[in-house]
Amino acid sequence: MLILGIETSCDETGLALYDSERGLLAHALHSQIALHAEYGGVVPELASRDHVRKILPLLRGIFQQANVKPRSVDGVAYTRGPGLIGALLVGATIGRSLAWTWKVPAMGIHHMEGHLLAPMLESDPPDFPFVALLVSGGHSLLVRVDGIGRYQIIGESVDDAAGEAFDKTAKLLGLPYPGGPALAKLAEQGDPGRFRFPRPMTDRPGCDFSFSGLKTAAINTWRKLEPTSENRADVARAFEDAVVDTLVIKCRRALQATGLQRLVVAGGVGANRQLREQLRNLAAESGGAVYYPRLEFCTDNGAMIAYAGWRRLAAGQGENTAIEVTPRWPLDSLPPVD
Ligand code: KG4
Ligand code: ZN
Repeated sequence: MLILGIETSCDETGLALYDSERGLLAHALHSQIALHAEYGGVVPELASRDHVRKILPLLRGIFQQANVKPRSVDGVAYTRGPGLIGALLVGATIGRSLAWTWKVPAMGIHHMEGHLLAPMLESDPPDFPFVALLVSGGHSLLVRVDGIGRYQIIGESVDDAAGEAFDKTAKLLGLPYPGGPALAKLAEQGDPGRFRFPRPMTDRPGCDFSFSGLKTAAINTWRKLEPTSENRADVARAFEDAVVDTLVIKCRRALQATGLQRLVVAGGVGANRQLREQLRNLAAESGGAVYYPRLEFCTDNGAMIAYAGWRRLAAGQGENTAIEVTPRWPLDSLPPVD
């Protein structure tokens, strides 16, 4: 079964062709970072317009790369939500129109389901059940995953998402958009012993997160200092250490509470090198295993949407609806597959 995957939920246009026999045949991504950089964050209307400009050239590109004919596609998967409504509508409109033209089923995919299934594209995919830590710009979730669509949320952020906290703190430290990777890079030069910020909500039971206080702690410290690059790096380091430590503590708890040994980490913050290293240590200490998508599939991409689409379309779940998107969409409301 050959599936076309389309991702346009935010500031990346991602297209992919996934074949259930041969695996990933082609994928292409256009990032809008340069477009939004001068505004310090994503401007939704500019995002929608850029998806419109880029999606068809990228689409032609993946068919050439894979050397397959558009008519051999058996189904189309596009991100239906959560995300920016205008951006989502671009992918949904193209996806549904192509499916209608090709007379094949189409399926609107939950963006976070795409993220949590992304490690399935690797050569050593995890078996169910597992715990998934989903940390992106819009979400921080700990989910017990017993199968496709069998999701139980065991922890989530009560305020900012982890990526959002990285981005906002980076902006306040004067780093360019997108702040997360820039802050992480700067933190590598910081002194880990100089400042210590709280590990929010670790002093009470449960797996929920809160990151907005950490951002405030970082800013209050930074404002009292000379704005030197050394001071900036030290604050960045203390911030990153606090976020990573907190995520590791909550993952340990989630594994203990569920009795599971496999941990999947996905979403943009899953690209953070310190987080990856510490979670690998956590897995080693408990005799378990941690699974990541390759770095380029931690952040938004079309391949994860094509994969999720294949699993649902193969189970006969293609919808025959109008062009619809769901900008706010709880992950645990999806139907199971089997
Ligand atoms: O999953 P993603 O590409 O888009 C959303 O669905 O939100 O995640 C983007 C988020 C941004 O907040 C970005 O700053 C963060 O992931 N991010 C990182 C790193 N790389 C990306 N945060 C910390 N360290 C990184 N290396
Ligand atoms: Zn994402």
